[in-house]
Amino acid sequence: LVDGRLLDWKGEMQIVDSAIETGVDGVYAPKRIGSCPLMDGAAGAEAVASVQKAWDHGMGVWPTMSVADRIAHVEEFTHRMIERREEIVRLMLWEIGKPYKESCVEFDRTVEYIRDTIDALKGLDRASSRFVIQSGIYAQIRRAPLGPTLCMGPYNYPLNETFATLIPALLMGNPVIIKPPRHGKLLFVPLMEPFRDCFPEGVVNLVFGNRQLIKPILESGAISVLAFIGSSEAANAMRLSHPSPNRLRCILGLGAKNAAVIMESADLDLAASEAVSGSLSFSGQRCTALKILFVHESLAEEFIRRFNEGIKSMPIGMPWDEGVRITPMPEPGKIRYLTELLEDAEAHGAKVVNPGGGAVDRSLFHPAVLYPVNGAMRVYHEEQFGPVVPIVPFRDIETPIRYLIESRYGQQMSIFSDDAGEVASLIDPMVNQVCRVNVNCLCQRGPDSFPFTGRKDSAEGTLSVDDALRCFSIRTLVAAKGTPRNKT
Ligand code: G3H
Repeated sequence: LVDGRLLDWKGEMQIVDSAIETGVDGVYAPKRIGSCPLMDGAAGAEAVASVQKAWDHGMGVWPTMSVADRIAHVEEFTHRMIERREEIVRLMLWEIGKPYKESCVEFDRTVEYIRDTIDALKGLDRASSRFVIQSGIYAQIRRAPLGPTLCMGPYNYPLNETFATLIPALLMGNPVIIKPPRHGKLLFVPLMEPFRDCFPEGVVNLVFGNRQLIKPILESGAISVLAFIGSSEAANAMRLSHPSPNRLRCILGLGAKNAAVIMESADLDLAASEAVSGSLSFSGQRCTALKILFVHESLAEEFIRRFNEGIKSMPIGMPWDEGVRITPMPEPGKIRYLTELLEDAEAHGAKVVNPGGGAVDRSLFHPAVLYPVNGAMRVYHEEQFGPVVPIVPFRDIETPIRYLIESRYGQQMSIFSDDAGEVASLIDPMVNQVCRVNVNCLCQRGPDSFPFTGRKDSAEGTLSVDDALRCFSIRTLVAAKGTPRNKT
């Protein structure tokens, strides 16, 4: 969808189902579930011209349209999107293997996010349209859009996390190009017509492709904002493709290696059940997942027993089966990568301490708990983004604190303790390394109105309902000495 037209594109990407690749009977049998256009640099140039035109448009089109009118367009689109809920949910399930219920939750959470963002915008608009008078100057501070925006979400939350930037960007008046993730793109096909019908030409451009498409879009220099959720490496490469990287506003949600620290006083049942859910939900493919567990050495054996018991609450299977939590993973190299991490840890003295942990077939991986893990192992440092759970025994709190300080990431952490004084004394050293400390609970993004960001290589900008509106706009000023008079 470029400049309000559905392009007739000759290249096509075949999309195969991640679940069937596993082969239900152990037979490799990828099944085609659909196709998308495969667009190249020429399409990228058309998208750039379109978004630039929408930005440069005269009075009242999108960047200069009233907030109330912009909201009306977004509401109409949301209504059309809800009509296609079941189709979108099914495509998500098939393409990225997200269990049916979790796919429904992602859809509904996205709709709620849109509604909450609209409400927040009404409040922001009221607050920022006040006049101030100082030193004889009458001024109105107004929020204005930033310019053409490129929105790219990740495969693990293809709908929710694309919309987490798309919606605030649009509501603040920025025209956008959306490039869906490598996996999880098919669900954007049913949204193409609602986008075309509900927004003025060129305001929403939806393109499908890979580096050949994205590079020229950034190289054009026309993009003012890069809104990307994915890996730090990809974000850096894109930023450097822009002719003036320093002028490109980047709003980024990147990697994380969130730790849980289980202190000697912790409620072990609570810690184990939160750690199971925190590290294994959606097969560990969440940026907020717990990716390393520091357990006080006196509790390690009992913690592992309870954790392994808890894994039974995470049944493995196909995403359409009722109650299944661990499902096939869409990234082709993932099983090999996770297996390498296990082999490396084993070579350095750790063991898989739960029954059946490891690869099942081409895309299904049974959760694997590794113990005892230490800093010589890759899994101590690398973001596994899968169901591998490294457990590090510690005696001195300096060990997890040092880990937080040395980590390249700084998103969140969890601490489990029943000693309020102990928690209070650790908050400051922890919150100076990460942006959210969870006490006696797992790490997570929600509620979506809470600030969601990170230090170091984990994020740039803050995504929450309210903060995101600020990220996608700039405070401008209309200042006057005296008010203009009508000429008669
Ligand atoms: O992958 C990163 C997501 O923002 C995580 O969201 O904590 O709700 O799963 P979540």
